[in-house]
Parts: sequence; structure tokens; C-alpha cells
Amino acid sequence: MSEKPIDGLSESFTRDEYISPEIFATEMKKIYGTNWCFAGLSESLSKIGDRLVVDIGDESILILRNRENELRAFYNVCQHRGSQLCDASGSGFGAAITCPYHAWSYSVEGNLIATPLHEKDSIDRSAISLKPVKVAQWQAFIFVSLDPNAPELIDWLESHYSRPLQLEKFDMASLKNARTTVDEVQANWKVLGENYSECLHCAVVHPELVDLVPIYKTGSTTQTDRPDWGVSLAEGATGLSYKQNENLPLLPAMDEIDDYSVFGAYVYPNMLIDISPTVAVITRYVPRSATHTTIFTDYLFPKDAVDNPDVDLEPTISFSDLVNQQDISVCVRVQRGVASKSFTRAYHTKMERYCKQLIQRYRNEIS
Ligand code: FES
Ligand SMILES: [Fe+2]
Repeated sequence: MSEKPIDGLSESFTRDEYISPEIFATEMKKIYGTNWCFAGLSESLSKIGDRLVVDIGDESILILRNRENELRAFYNVCQHRGSQLCDASGSGFGAAITCPYHAWSYSVEGNLIATPLHEKDSIDRSAISLKPVKVAQWQAFIFVSLDPNAPELIDWLESHYSRPLQLEKFDMASLKNARTTVDEVQANWKVLGENYSECLHCAVVHPELVDLVPIYKTGSTTQTDRPDWGVSLAEGATGLSYKQNENLPLLPAMDEIDDYSVFGAYVYPNMLIDISPTVAVITRYVPRSATHTTIFTDYLFPKDAVDNPDVDLEPTISFSDLVNQQDISVCVRVQRGVASKSFTRAYHTKMERYCKQLIQRYRNEIS
């Protein structure tokens, strides 16, 4: 039975959608199994033999480059008797991917090329190959889609409600990762996504951040006078950092913008891009269960800054991590609350309009 609408509020997710293992399984199939998902940084595959092993939905995916530097992705499953091929990202698998069980080997194109202890012609190797997955790169980022009929990545990004292509001007492929942090968070991935999509909480939860980004005090994440979707820093502030005027190099195109500014996008379902004058903070959600998400955060700076030992990136990284931990702490608190049997569903106010876009897209995909 549907509930009576409440003036000023629209319906968000239900209690079950935050905690049910069955609904989580459906999400992995219908959302993480169909969308393009952010899988990792392109720089993790800079050498022949490098591999990325990532969980997308409930699948493990192996990503690599062939000798022509083209990306290839496969389900991380040996086609002999199903052993997982690679345990973790890393480098140096050489010219072939060798299964740790009976040492069948596959080329980087996924073809079966060796079956030890068997005469060469005793098995029709041409009939067996790794199962491919769609993979593509945008800027510094590798995406995969488990849907063989997924649109081209660039078209998917183009039509995305958060308009990530607007951030191309910052040439993120030219940046270098200075650090990756990993947080195991006891919260549903949608709790994290909703939290990112609104700033009603900013004045309460992020006092340090709103001092540097005054519009956030009002609960808004946009400025009506900024058609570029940028948000201006406070008078005298030069970056999101514990130290101001610290002489870090600006990201590309930042010097063409009148104010020191920040930009952001939630590339639903599993990526956040946060641009500020000197750093691009890139977040990847890996949902583990209805109540557990792993968050990977990369801190990308201009290469010169990362390679110069005299440049201190710590005040910038730790400021961003402070905000991240503040968000994590409220999301864990929400997850505990929504699990209560007294709770039926969450609501959005008019000011949480990006949450509404998130839920609209979710409803379309899950139905
Ligand atoms: S399961 Fe991989 S070689 Fe046997
Ligand atoms: Fe926040």
C-alpha cells in the first residue's frame, strides 16, 4: 500500500533497499552489471605485463594491455575448471596469463596457448578462450561494462546526468597519483552516493570545508552565477588544503578560471571526481554487500609536484581525507539508523535535488 505523500518531501530509498541482500544482488545484476563502472587509473597499466584485478558487481575482472597498448578485459576465470586466474592487481605476468591450478596459459588476447602435459594437438585449443568484457578509457580512467551491448563509453558519459565531460578541460590524464587510500565502510553504496549528492549536511559535518567553500554553508553545491558548474573558494583561499598559498602547481586550465574554484561529479554508480585548484581526488566505490562498501581514493596532482620531493602534498591530501572521514562517519551512522525496524524509508527535500536524480536513475534501472 502506498503511503500518503508528505508536503515538501519526496520519497527516497526504503529500509529494505539499504539492507536487503536480495535487493543488493539485484543491484549488482541490473546496475553494476549494465552500467560502465570505474575500474582504476590508466597509470596502473603503464607497462606490458601490468594487470588490474577489480570487482565489478559480483564479478572479478582482469584488465591488461596488449603489445599494441590496447586495453583488454576478461572475466578472471580459467575456462578449464573455473579457477580464478589472478588474485590481485600487479605487474609482471609476462607474455601469458597462467592459471595457478593446472597451468593452462592464455595470451593477452585471451586465447588458450598452452595446456601442459598434453600433446599439442590433443586438445582443440582454438575452441577455448577467456570471456571478454567491454573496457575503455576516458581521461586517466579505465571503465568496464559487463553488458556486451553497452553504448560507447564516451556516449554513456555524454548522457550522464552529472555531466562529467565538463571536467575534461582539467586534462586529468596528465596528472599523477600521489597516494591511494582504502576505507572499509559499513554502509550501503547508495548511502554514500546520496551523501555525496547533497550539501545540506556540509555546515554541520564539514566545518573546515565550508570555511573554504562558503556556498556550501547554504546547502547548495552550485552557484547561480557560474554556468561552468564551478564553485568559488572563500576570499584569500587558494586550495582545499590545511595550508593556503602553499605554491603547489595548479591543475591544467585552472589559471583560466577567474576564481579559485572547485568542481565535482558523481559518475553513478561508483565514481566521484572532485577537482580543486591543485588536486583531483578520485573515489571508487566497490560494494561488497548491502551493508559494506570499500572506498578507494586516489589523489592526482600535476606530475612535477608528485616527482619533486621538496613539494609537500601532505596538507592537501590530509585535508581531503579529513572531509572523507567526516562523510564516512555520518554514512556509518545512517546505515545503523536505517537498519532499525522502526525505519521505513528516507526522504529528500527540495534542496536534495541531485539525490532525486540518483533515485530516478536507480528506479529506472532496477525496475
Ligand atoms: S582450472 Fe585453470 S588450468 Fe585447470
Ligand atoms: Fe560530505
